[in-house]
Amino acid sequence: MSTRLILGLVSSACYGVDTRLRRELAEPAAARGWRLAITLTPTATRWLSANGELDRLAELTDLPVRSEPRLPSEPKPYRTPDAFVFAPASANSVAKLALGIADNQALTALMEAVGAQGIPVVVRPQADPAQRGHPAWRRHLVTLREAGVYLDDGAPEDSWESSLDVVGSLVGGIG
Ligand SMILES: Cc1cc2nc3c(=O)[nH]c(=O)nc-3n(C[C@H](O)[C@H](O)[C@H](O)COP(=O)(O)O)c2cc1C
Repeated sequence: MSTRLILGLVSSACYGVDTRLRRELAEPAAARGWRLAITLTPTATRWLSANGELDRLAELTDLPVRSEPRLPSEPKPYRTPDAFVFAPASANSVAKLALGIADNQALTALMEAVGAQGIPVVVRPQADPAQRGHPAWRRHLVTLREAGVYLDDGAPEDSWESSLDVVGSLVGGIG
């Protein structure tokens, strides 16, 4: 049984996820020593399956890349991850996470991690000015911050790898 720390790497359907997720997050995280538990929203799964990235992500980890919830008759595929990075996080999924809506496997994992408290969760929102202008946006971020979530907000063109630096420091220095 592996004793390596598990990173829950969760991604949603944001611009660039189909090309940047593996290069800027999954490969660097694996290189830093994380065992990857990758979960994608259904839309992100469709995008990454269309360009073959889903298979390339699967090669980086011994754990299944998830998007579907398990059947009640199936065991959990792995233990609860030691920490989570949710990047990129769409306006849609940020709103759902803040409200506690868990209508897909990605949000189920994140929502339980936030609610459990004590599991480091880093969220990198990627939303355009119109999405950020929605009246509920600011409140969603406040809710997440108050729940102990670390918001690694940044310009969309900046590397997403900074979220790995943050989660590494939160768990005590991996990477
Ligand atoms: C090409 C493309 C790029 C998109 N980029 C973003 C983005 O960067 N941020 C965002 O919040 N939504 C973006 N969207 C909209 C989301 O994909 C859409 O709201 C979707 O329902 C999000 O689903 P998810 O949060 O379940 O992954 C984009 C849509 C398309 C078609």
